[in-house]
Amino acid sequence: MTKRTPRFIRTHDVSSHDERLAAIEGLMAKPPQGLPKHFYDRLGSHLFDAITELPEYYPTRTEAALFAAHGAQMARAIGGGSTFIDLGAGNCAKAARLLPLLDPARYIAVDISADYLQDALRDLQRQHPALDIVGVGMDFSRSPALPAGLLGGDASRPVFFYPGSSIGNFKPTQAEKFLAGIRAQAQGGGLLIGVDLVKPVNVLEAAYDDALGVTAAFNLNLLRNLNRIIGADFEPRQWRHVALFNTVESRIEMHLEAREAMTVQWPGGERRFDAGERIHTENSYKYSVASFGELLGRAGFRGHRVWTAPNEWFAVFWSEA
Ligand code: AVJ
Repeated sequence: MTKRTPRFIRTHDVSSHDERLAAIEGLMAKPPQGLPKHFYDRLGSHLFDAITELPEYYPTRTEAALFAAHGAQMARAIGGGSTFIDLGAGNCAKAARLLPLLDPARYIAVDISADYLQDALRDLQRQHPALDIVGVGMDFSRSPALPAGLLGGDASRPVFFYPGSSIGNFKPTQAEKFLAGIRAQAQGGGLLIGVDLVKPVNVLEAAYDDALGVTAAFNLNLLRNLNRIIGADFEPRQWRHVALFNTVESRIEMHLEAREAMTVQWPGGERRFDAGERIHTENSYKYSVASFGELLGRAGFRGHRVWTAPNEWFAVFWSEA
């Protein structure tokens, strides 16, 4: 038997000039902002995996239950032999469970956390020795356009997989553009996407402010990453994790709040923070089944099927491009 090894392509460099500029621009903004992609160095990816095991963090297990209950039906709707593209694949655990049902011709796993993804793909290849696996270390936060040549060619029905409600990181207008960008690459295929739904505020806020402080650590890890990316001297102990549900915008907001006044410096710049001042680090938008269906329509998708958790906490949509 021939032993395959995953092909790996890197298009993203965390130490690039653009990356530094974007991080600094966020810090200097009013109010200051972090970029969610800067959560995910190797430690950040591990902390996120720990979040998914927390009793308070319902999205991952609610979505997993949907795939367990309806995966076969989803697979029949999607059809075999596709090119299955996993956006934000992380540890590839979700795809690993779906692959036997979907039986794609090729699996393309995309993540900004390239080293972490590469480790995960080596393990996955061992479990699926014959599968054609391609890893892409890429920042798709601005555009989901895959490197040229990965999708084109033969009748390789591209099926995009965007689980976990990561779409919630985008403002709805950006989400629409992002989904339209997926649709443009998915002709003949479609999009399988997990979407977190609006629910009681206490449930939402607990999911983003857990008793063990894992989400706090995940949020604070952004400061370590900023220290590395721009050479800043953030001291995580000077900051406090804040998570709240903004009802008007229908989103969880995560912030880092300064416990005291300070000046943070980096080569070529600095910023003063007052005590109580906040860096807005993440949005996680929550939809209704109807509002997300409309968003798919605005992005150009032609109708959809939807599977919803019994408690209406989470939904998975399949939409043909
Ligand atoms: C990976 C973006 C789906 O918004 O729930 C989890 C990230 N942040 N806890 C989410 C996250 C804090 C997560 N997504």
